[in-house]
Amino acid sequence: MHIAFGSDHAAAFLKSELMAYAESLGHTCHDCGGRQNEPNDYPIYAARAARLVLDGACELGVVVCGTGVGVSLAANKISGIRCALCGDCYTAKMTRAHNDANMLAMGSRVIGAELAKMILTFFLETPFEGGRHQRRVNMIADLERGHSLE
Ligand code: RB5
Repeated sequence: MHIAFGSDHAAAFLKSELMAYAESLGHTCHDCGGRQNEPNDYPIYAARAARLVLDGACELGVVVCGTGVGVSLAANKISGIRCALCGDCYTAKMTRAHNDANMLAMGSRVIGAELAKMILTFFLETPFEGGRHQRRVNMIADLERGHSLE
């Protein structure tokens, strides 16, 4: 799988660890930037990763910052992106299975690297279940188009 990675300065080290881990699993990683030694504005790198996912260059994206909140908020502003902030494996599995999340966000100041790798594994290995969940994902897309749903 091709995976887009983005971070800010607070999580560049975690991004590097996750990319090395994903490569060891046989995936191809695309680093959309964010470096450790200078303050980096996380929306830029979250948006770059999101665009690779939307373009189809990458199947999934992973974005990290201190809390994971900033990158997830930024990525979710881009129409078509469903970015899930995860701090546990169950959520990572279920957001793929039920929400068809196409991006994962995590916080480097919240969880350790080993848990982050485990969360990433669940995220990468769980397929979308479709069925009734597809209808709900379609409704999220309807909201992006400005529909009220009711
Ligand atoms: C950077 O200090 C921090 O604000 C950022 O990494 C992130 O946590 C924002 O949501």
